Amino acid sequence: MRNLASIFRIIALVAIAWGGIELLFETEPGQLAVLAYPKTLIFLGVIALVSIAIEVSVAALRFTLFKSLSEEKQEKFLALENKQVNQLKAKFENLPKLLTRSRPIEEEGEIELDHDYDGIRELDNKLPPWWIYSFYASIIFAAIYLVRFHVFDDYTQVEEYKAEVAQAEIDIARYKETAKDLVTLETVTLMADPSDLEAGKQIYTNNCVACHKADAGGGIGPNLTDEHWILGGGIKNVYRTLLEGGRPGKGMVSWKNDFKPSELQQVASYVLSLQGTVPAEPKEPEGEIWVEEIE
Ligand code: HEC
Repeated sequence: MRNLASIFRIIALVAIAWGGIELLFETEPGQLAVLAYPKTLIFLGVIALVSIAIEVSVAALRFTLFKSLSEEKQEKFLALENKQVNQLKAKFENLPKLLTRSRPIEEEGEIELDHDYDGIRELDNKLPPWWIYSFYASIIFAAIYLVRFHVFDDYTQVEEYKAEVAQAEIDIARYKETAKDLVTLETVTLMADPSDLEAGKQIYTNNCVACHKADAGGGIGPNLTDEHWILGGGIKNVYRTLLEGGRPGKGMVSWKNDFKPSELQQVASYVLSLQGTVPAEPKEPEGEIWVEEIE
């Protein structure tokens, strides 16, 4: 019992210290501060060691003091301790009764009412305190609610809903900003930001010019500046071509293992930004004229 209490105290202390560290240190959502700042683990370790040391010394001190008592006093001491433990136990055992105020079955005769419905009798049980106080709390809540929303016309549910949707949209936009690589074939959009197009141009220059030429006029691969497309134009199709490659054996491979989704989106957008430019030696058009479907 005593040992158990010691262990419990040590764990509680370390847990409180840990909680404090998590509160004090700023981390990205979902990340534990103790992992982000490993030095805090040393701190927790020290706390654990110190508290173990304290528990051990207190136990040792207690033992020596106890031994120094006369036998009679030792017995008295133990009896007193037992009494305290028993009182504590009795309190715990009484807890359900305190919470429900129910009468034991032997005493039910005292609270029986003289209502008798064909042998079904009624008991005058007390309402359980947990129930009655929740009931009072709900009355208070209702009164405040009534005054706030029906007398003073604070916001309506529709307004609340709209505010939450607006906030969610802000959150989603912020999330997408940090998680650009969430783009998929379904969600990919044309990028217009000059820095994105510049990044796309870099990738194009380093990887694509061998077959498509620097001005995209075409060589082994088709001309990318005209409105004819073999595999379909528009951001979704071009993105798909980069993701999955061209028709087998033609030479256009999938680039999905070389670049992140956001990078593929940048190259695809760069390629499309070349539409209508005039290359030095344009390859003759291949494929169909692509017309963007307007939704
Ligand atoms: C080894 C040569 C080669 C390289 C390198 C290459 N391509 Fe291609 N590309 C081709 C060929 C060949 C095709 C035609 C595929 C087909 O007919 O299915 C093609 C098709 C395409 C298409 C579709 C054109 C259409 O008409 O539908 C796009 C877009 C494209 N490439 C972009 C790129 C980009 C961007 C890169 C660099 C990341 C790249 N390609 C690298 C050879 C290449």
